[in-house]
Amino acid sequence: MKKLFSSILAGLTFFTIHNATAEIKDMNNKKVLVVYFSKTGEQYSVGNITEGNTAIVAKMIAEQTGGSLFEVKLKNDTYPAAYTALTEAAKAEKNSNARPEIAGDVSDFDNYDVVFIGGPVWWGDLPMAVYTFIDKHNWSGKTVVPFVTHEGSGLTSVPNNLKNATGAEMLDGLAIYGHIAQNERAKAKENVVNWLNKLGF
Ligand SMILES: Cc1cc2nc3c(=O)[nH]c(=O)nc-3n(C[C@H](O)[C@H](O)[C@H](O)COP(=O)(O)O)c2cc1C
Repeated sequence: MKKLFSSILAGLTFFTIHNATAEIKDMNNKKVLVVYFSKTGEQYSVGNITEGNTAIVAKMIAEQTGGSLFEVKLKNDTYPAAYTALTEAAKAEKNSNARPEIAGDVSDFDNYDVVFIGGPVWWGDLPMAVYTFIDKHNWSGKTVVPFVTHEGSGLTSVPNNLKNATGAEMLDGLAIYGHIAQNERAKAKENVVNWLNKLGF
């Protein structure tokens, strides 16, 4: 009986290892796009920044996965540089479910298998401009991976909202404090690399 049990266990172990290896190989072969929104200027707990918190994380993801980067920017960026004024503008945009016009696009979008979508948490969600980008594209067959920077909310409803907006298959997301991305880059990078490794990248 003991022998039978160890044979079953050995079989299961082999199957698990075999499967995990196959999954890692699969993700490494995927063509990756990293789409993000990020804001410079005055930000919560980091002062006046010249590189956005999410931009720092997005670049780490692209570096680690060999992915291409696309920054979602407004065509006419009228966002205030001052933090409090920005929170009011963002609230108005969210309340009206706005789709602000964005600059540029990803011309070869169909070629990507996995799309990381990230941004700052604004009022519990991503900035509306990210949804402008999403609405422009066909997500059928894509795998979407959410990531955010925040100052306390964590991922909040972002994975659900992205699932609803894209209908795509979702992988587990990452939430990093904005001030850690900005001021403790080695720690941020360790979090990014560990998360990507768990997903098989
Ligand atoms: C308009 C606005 C709304 C925000 N709302 C939230 C929020 O709901 N929850 C949270 O944890 N942080 C919130 N924050 C903080 C940002 O998510 C955080 O500072 C983020 O790292 C900024 O990233 P960025 O530099 O890439 O834009 C908000 C910041 C702004 C400007």
